Amino acid sequence: MNAKETEDIFRNSFGIYIHIPFCKQKCYYCDFVSFAKKEEMIEQYINALKKEIKYKLNGKDKIDTIYIGGGTPSVINSKYIVEVLEEIYSIVGFDKTREVTIEVNPGTVDKEKIEDYKRAKINRISLGLQTTNDTILKSIGRIHTYKQFEEAYKLIQQVGFTNINVDLMLALPNQTLEDLDRSLKQVMNLKPTHISVYSLILEEGTKLEDLINKKVLDLPSDDIERKMYWKTKEVLENNGYIHYEISNFAKESYESKHNSNCWNQQEYYGFGVAAHSYINNVRYSNIEDLSQYIKNIENEEYNKIKQVNEIQTKISKAKEYMILKLRTIAGVEIKEYKAKFQENPLYTYRKEIEKLTESELLEIDGDNIKLTAKGIDFANLVWEEFV
Ligand SMILES: C[S@@+](CC[C@H](N)C(=O)[O-])C[C@H]1O[C@@H](n2cnc3c(N)ncnc32)[C@H](O)[C@@H]1O
Ligand code: SF4
Repeated sequence: MNAKETEDIFRNSFGIYIHIPFCKQKCYYCDFVSFAKKEEMIEQYINALKKEIKYKLNGKDKIDTIYIGGGTPSVINSKYIVEVLEEIYSIVGFDKTREVTIEVNPGTVDKEKIEDYKRAKINRISLGLQTTNDTILKSIGRIHTYKQFEEAYKLIQQVGFTNINVDLMLALPNQTLEDLDRSLKQVMNLKPTHISVYSLILEEGTKLEDLINKKVLDLPSDDIERKMYWKTKEVLENNGYIHYEISNFAKESYESKHNSNCWNQQEYYGFGVAAHSYINNVRYSNIEDLSQYIKNIENEEYNKIKQVNEIQTKISKAKEYMILKLRTIAGVEIKEYKAKFQENPLYTYRKEIEKLTESELLEIDGDNIKLTAKGIDFANLVWEEFV
């Protein structure tokens, strides 16, 4: 099959996101919908999840990607992950699925779990590391050391996984440029196919916010944070990684298919508490209350688990497309935009594009409208113009 034929097959296909909201311990910086010490709810949750999948997926076909995220999907017994995936495959088959990812916390896996993932046709593992500095790991509430991460990484390779992502964080408390340099060198030695790099967002109401306010921990300045970002970009690009999205780097052809589809406005179904979906130009999200989610599904009150966030018009969809594509380093391809919306973005957004190019945040490079280096630093200002 050539690339064009593959593209045609997947044009009308969709993605699946599955949310596993359990963690061994809550990291101090994290405000994802995830709970520690709720082990007694895991079995009920998985049963509800399978019921939601069966209800919503019946009659559907052509799944391109599956992403199991969290929370920490690897904290629960792997038999549940196998059950959930088997439920999906029994409804829609597997033949057309290109990528199945699971997020793993290094402090929660063993060989048996990883072997189960392989048997369940998972072909991409995303490992949360953040930094290789054990003192910092401990200070942000991570449950593992760097050595444990390395052991998990090697185990995953031994079981036969070749597509591995590592999550790193920048501007962590007391993190220095030298720490970052060491983390990058150690990760480079492992040669993962993909690296996600997130600058710390100090979320309201987190334990980390409290520790910073009380001056127990200290954050690097904005200036250091930017230096870290550009240092990371330089090191990763020198090691053969392609910077393809503001926070993502990949070896050639290892870009995350699931996320790339989301940035392309492809449809996806989200299952589980707090999961988001995008179907037929409507963005939905499931409720965040775990007990209520389980109860409503047990009572087959499916309309009570989701809320509509946005019904898109042609204009709002086109603006969202601009924002999503301006997250990518290649930016908006004018030809592609024209094919999708039957208009030229250079005319539709003339005012915005003029303003952003004059302030050197955007540039037009051949057929692409994209962020400049300055635009990468001030990407929020660019996206704001299209809200
Ligand atoms: C769901 S977690 C990954 C899997 C697993 N739960 C773990 O932490 O190892 C997704 C990633 O989001 C990033 N993240 C979470 N909270 C963040 C924050 N407040 N600021 C920046 N990045 C954050 C971390 O890099 C984390 O690995
Ligand atoms: S970063 Fe990962 S392990 Fe830590 S609390 Fe958030 S979801 Fe859980």
